[in-house]
This record gives sequence, C-alpha cells and structure tokens, in this order.
Amino acid sequence: MLRPRILRKNASIRSLVKETSLSVDDFIVPLFVTEGENVKEEISSMPNYFRFSLDNLEKEVKELWDLGLKCVLLFVKVPDNLKDNQGKEAINPNGLMQRAIKTVKKTTPEMVVMTDVALDPYSSFGHDGIVENGEIINDRTVDILAKMSLSHAQAGADFVAPSDMMDGRIKAIREILEKNNYTDVGIMSYSAKYASAFYGPFRDALDSAPGFGDKKTYQMDYANRTEAIKETLLDVEEGADIVMVKPGLPYLDIVREVKNAVNLPVSVYQVSGEYAMVKAAAEKGWLDHDAVMVEQLYAFKRAGADLIASYFAKDAAILFKK
Ligand code: PBG
Repeated sequence: MLRPRILRKNASIRSLVKETSLSVDDFIVPLFVTEGENVKEEISSMPNYFRFSLDNLEKEVKELWDLGLKCVLLFVKVPDNLKDNQGKEAINPNGLMQRAIKTVKKTTPEMVVMTDVALDPYSSFGHDGIVENGEIINDRTVDILAKMSLSHAQAGADFVAPSDMMDGRIKAIREILEKNNYTDVGIMSYSAKYASAFYGPFRDALDSAPGFGDKKTYQMDYANRTEAIKETLLDVEEGADIVMVKPGLPYLDIVREVKNAVNLPVSVYQVSGEYAMVKAAAEKGWLDHDAVMVEQLYAFKRAGADLIASYFAKDAAILFKK
C-alpha cells in the first residue's frame, strides 16, 4: 500500500515538501502615472488601483519599497492634446514618463525601474504603432520605439519593456542602446502577448482603447501555441534579457512551454481583467479575495514564471507582512 497522504499529514511536513515558493522578490508592480498635483484617482474598473501624479508616485514607491517590493513597471496616461500618429510625445525628454522615471530613481534609487514601450498611450488612434490607411506600419513604428527606449534609458530606466509586438523591435532597441553606450540597460520583452479581451480595464486606466478595429494584426491569436515559442525565441536571439507571457492565468500552458524553451528569466503578466474579476467576485462575497489571490500567484510560479507583474503585488506584500 502506498500512502501519499503521509506527506500531507500536518503543516510542518507540508512545508518541508513544498515545491514552489512565493515572495516579494518575485513581483513587478505596474504603476499608472498621470499629470497634475496630489492626484490619486481610483480606476473605476480596477478597485483599489490608482493613477498617481508625480508627488503621490513618490509616496507610493516609498511604501512599496518599505514592503520589500523592488521593481516597478511604469505606464503613463497622456493628455489627449499630446496624442498624435507619430509618437512625438513618447520621445519628449521632459515627457511624463521621463519625469516619472527620474522621480522614482530620486525617491528610491535602488528600486528597479521598468518602463512600458509602446505607442498606444500616445496614439490618437489608440494603437501600438503608426497608422496609415487603417494599417499599423511596422518598421517606422520600430524606429520610434527604439528612440523611445533610448529616451527612457537617458532618464534612468533599468529596463525597457516593449509591449507592442512589432517585428524586429528587440534588435532595434538593443542596437540603439549599444550605439549610445547604454550597455547596462536591459530589455524585458513582451514576447508572447496575445490579443486579449482581458486588457479592458487597463485601457480604461490609460484611456488608450483602439479607436478603430482591434490589435489582432500584431498581438497573437489565442488559438496559437507554437507561435508563442517562435516569437519568444526570436526575441531571445534579438537580445532580450527577460521574456514575458501575457495575459497570465488563461495562458499558464504557454508560461510552462516558454520556460522549458529558454535559458533566461520568464515573467508573466497577470493583467487588468484578471485583477478585476477577482476584485468583483470578492466584493460580491463570492470568493475569498486573499486566498484566491495567493493561489493564483502560486500558479504562476508553479507554471514556471520567475517574475510576476501583478496589480496584486502590493496586496500580497501586505499580506505576507502580517
Ligand atoms: C499596451 C499595453 C496593454 C497592456 C500593457 N501594455 C494593453 C493593450 O495591449 O491593449 C495591458 C495590461 C493589462 O491589461 O493589465 N501596449
């Protein structure tokens, strides 16, 4: 008779044989930044998640640092009058992103700063690239993404995180960073990013929903698996330092396959819609918020993620401190 329950007999034994662990070291905290003073606006479809003006961003990153969180991923909400079809504001050395990077670095110098690189928050069309005749133009978009990455590096970013899914952008970013001597700036590539309905609340947060059509000519079809490996291996070849799978929970199979296919850290992005679902169910009293949150975060680690970008990072860090 075999007795597998022996290993589950009590909490001490279970902790000895536990296969996966989770801690504040695993988290990337996404942060939304907006213009203004003393702004802390709750995002309607993301309860308890906020857009911060730069002064409140300072307070927030101090709090995060004190909780043991070591990495933030910055997104900016760009005022409508600065949006165009070229991404001009994206490379403004005094733009909101560039000031946000400096603010975090000044406040918490050891905090790892990652920055979103994509045109959608800057685009009058709400697309991740330059639009011409209803199409997203790849190579001209890549040029501006490379310049945008350089501008983030100049402002002090540790990693740039291209989330656009254009072809060839990792290579172009690596080259421009090398050419300008930013040899210690990393690239976290959104390598396997799916065209997903789970991004809805994020687009509310940044007011960045596509003005026409969808993102299916650049983001991947959720029916596909081998394409995720192809995209990821290309990014590794082009010089990515960290690769990412996005969204999270519905794509754990992809996380595992990517982990098995590469020799570099794999991150996963638990996206806004995943966050919203848990918050909504918990508000209704249908799910135990903290228990479901922790179970999902463990699932990412078990699937093979080394890093987890999650709107739950702060909630989890607070829970771990208790
Ligand atoms: C856009 C971008 C998106 C997210 C991160 N970067 C949305 C999109 O692709 O439309 C989604 C994040 C989330 O839903 O939490 N470049």
